Amino acid sequence: MSDPSGSNGSSGSSGSSDSRRKRVTTSDLIAMKGRGEKIAMLTCYDYLFAGILTETAVDAVLVGDSLGQVVLGHDSTLPVTVDDMIHHARAVRRGLQGPLLVVDMPFLSYQVSDEDALRNAGRMMRETGAEAVKLEGAADVTLDRIRLMVGAGIPVMGHLGLTPQSVHELGGYSVRGREREEADRLRHEARALEEAGCFSIVLELMPTELAGEISGSIRIPTIGIGAGSECDGQVLVLPDMLGLNPSFNPTFLRRFAELGEAARRGVDEYVSAVKSSEYPADSESYEA
Ligand code: KIV
Repeated sequence: MSDPSGSNGSSGSSGSSDSRRKRVTTSDLIAMKGRGEKIAMLTCYDYLFAGILTETAVDAVLVGDSLGQVVLGHDSTLPVTVDDMIHHARAVRRGLQGPLLVVDMPFLSYQVSDEDALRNAGRMMRETGAEAVKLEGAADVTLDRIRLMVGAGIPVMGHLGLTPQSVHELGGYSVRGREREEADRLRHEARALEEAGCFSIVLELMPTELAGEISGSIRIPTIGIGAGSECDGQVLVLPDMLGLNPSFNPTFLRRFAELGEAARRGVDEYVSAVKSSEYPADSESYEA
């Protein structure tokens, strides 16, 4: 609704060219690792929060397929489609300036065939304005698809450890790489992803020591989530770290704000103000 007072109702974060941040590139992230500068990444799924992130110093933003759980209410990432990802990534793109924008390739969007994988990755880039895609795992076929995308000029971020699209194969959302055999496999897969052309790798839910060893063994930056302090950067799911999802309390999660509580309090106060006719006051109403 337009405001007769003349304001356009937006925070204005995306409108002014004066406030434009310099674009972060994939090479910038690699250079940050070289300098030992930590990379701060967050997920985002909509225009409003993208505008807020633009006003921060966050380096990279992921439209994650965690969208399925935290925004769409599914109990896993599996139901998320390419069209869902594109819909949300377009909204984020409209609000985001500066941080590198990465979009997740959802379940079965890159596994079916070379042609399908490249078409879907191309849609992600062309239709959303993202600067990179992210794929889970390092199976031989995934490595082939990564080479194909990188060969077509599409930057790819890898993802190892807990890979939520394989939750049924893994048997749950548990810490990976505690057994020697799996730890060795993860070390090997990280090198394979680097060789295939990934510019960075998310390491999810693994012991600090293993994530540190992997980070030290490759030149591209690792971005940890539940993988301890020795990664080159960190990523968290935005609604989780802002306290919008208070029932989700894994060990690795720190809540940096309590927006869920603030929102509930605000709505309660609004309801009582309406019920008691205290809102709207004269100062919040228009004269003839
Ligand atoms: O989908 C997602 O949000 C992710 C992050 C947890 C890295 O993959």
